[in-house]
Amino acid sequence: MEHQNTSIKTPQFSHITPEDLDHIYEPSEDSFLLIDTLEKDLELIRARHPAVCLEVGSGSGVVITALATALGPYCCYLATDINPRACRITQETGQVNGVSVNAINTDLASGIRAQIDVLIFNPPYVVTPSEEVGRGDLEHTWAGGELGREVMDRLFPRVGELLSPKGVFYLVVLKENRPQEVAEVMALQGFSCSIVLSRTTGPEKLSVLRFTRDR
Ligand SMILES: C[S@@+](CC[C@H](N)C(=O)[O-])C[C@H]1O[C@@H](n2cnc3c(N)ncnc32)[C@H](O)[C@@H]1O
Repeated sequence: MEHQNTSIKTPQFSHITPEDLDHIYEPSEDSFLLIDTLEKDLELIRARHPAVCLEVGSGSGVVITALATALGPYCCYLATDINPRACRITQETGQVNGVSVNAINTDLASGIRAQIDVLIFNPPYVVTPSEEVGRGDLEHTWAGGELGREVMDRLFPRVGELLSPKGVFYLVVLKENRPQEVAEVMALQGFSCSIVLSRTTGPEKLSVLRFTRDR
């Protein structure tokens, strides 16, 4: 029987320059929490035999690249970002780590018609005035507006049509985003929610939620 690795390597990202980091999100605690979540759930993900994985808002591309190196080439890896520079760097991060990631410059998942088996989103979740949402490249990375929910809330109504029947959706949230309320919104679409990992770093309590269809 073939031995399958149960760990996920952190991708190499030293090709990202300080100038790039003036425009895109530097891999941070939340990025690594998400990678740790995917590692924890790797058996669950493999058991679903995913064919298409999509990361919305891929930034540097470390998260989708980490998943691609763990699952291998029998799957198609897509990424989106509102920032074209993040798309270019996501593709480069894939190449540098020997995997192919197709990064598309679009708002959330606009224009994506595929059935996604693994959907990932580490959204801009910081509570800010609404005017800061989408004001510039760096604001795109963190400014979440009211309750930090203004960007993620726009994706939720599309999750039902985007996810394949066996699909799984991972979402990073902050305590201030009211995770219980997010779970209730998704429950109305027939998804059940579990907290896979939580971590407190400084003042931030971050969690990664997993949504799957109710059976
Ligand atoms: C918190 S960063 C996460 C980056 C990366 N996924 C990670 O975990 O390191 C949020 C990312 O979402 C992108 N983003 C923000 N609003 C978006 C939108 N409406 N559509 C697509 N991407 C968006 C930002 O440009 C940024 O790259």
